[in-house]
Amino acid sequence: MINVEQVLAESFIRQGQWHDSLGSTNNRALELAVDPLVQMPILVGATEQSAGRGRGSNRWWAADGTLMFSVLFDMPSLGLPQFEWPRFSLGTALTIAETIEAFLPNVPVGLKWPNDVWIGNRKTCGILIEQSDRAPGRLVVGIGLNINTQFDAAPAELRSIATSLHTESGQTFCMQQVLIQFLQRWEFNIAAQKAGDWDLERLWSRLCVLSGRTVCVTAAGNESTGLCTGIANDGALLVVDRGQTVRHYAGTVRPIDTAPD
Ligand code: BTN
Repeated sequence: MINVEQVLAESFIRQGQWHDSLGSTNNRALELAVDPLVQMPILVGATEQSAGRGRGSNRWWAADGTLMFSVLFDMPSLGLPQFEWPRFSLGTALTIAETIEAFLPNVPVGLKWPNDVWIGNRKTCGILIEQSDRAPGRLVVGIGLNINTQFDAAPAELRSIATSLHTESGQTFCMQQVLIQFLQRWEFNIAAQKAGDWDLERLWSRLCVLSGRTVCVTAAGNESTGLCTGIANDGALLVVDRGQTVRHYAGTVRPIDTAPD
């Protein structure tokens, strides 16, 4: 269980609730988006989720030791206009990656556009960002971070593609500390983004796992392949297809060449 009082005292979160069990923290945060009494950013966390959601129609599998929470923002009050939201989404993943590196300086942390965080070739964090239909300008950022997670009971297809900080290091981490460090870094990075003092392209390129690889991008039902050359400063994924650079702002991407060692 997370100590919400400490989170409020040590981060930019203004309200918080932590549940033993919820369907999905994103669903609860979307409900709160229309509640006039809520002060944002508000944190909604759960030790267990019975219907955790991933991107698209995916479910989010989790076990003990997975940190699962959503933060609801009022983006106009946060000071980020809509054209900044793609960078905000990528910046959230970058902040998770920086947090993991602070706890585990010797592991190869990577970023897979738009907002998956990998260690080596395996995913350790997924992020689901959703807009409220009923309260425009309110954004829910849902994060599932495998910290002390063990995968013995995971579906077979997940065991070969997922990892956790514990799996990579054998250590057990204080989830409270990881959450607070993440929130503090996030506040710092958001402030830098607002100040125009934040070179996302450079920061991302250090960790991008797709740069230099042949990728297949699926967007709006269409598939295209090409060589990924990284991201642009506005958050677009850059893919060179027959000599032309295509900028992708949405979709899913997967490398289709052999993984480098
Ligand atoms: C993905 O990788 O597809 C995104 C996974 C996001 C999972 C988190 S867990 C907390 C929050 N609540 C949800 O229902 N989903 C997100």
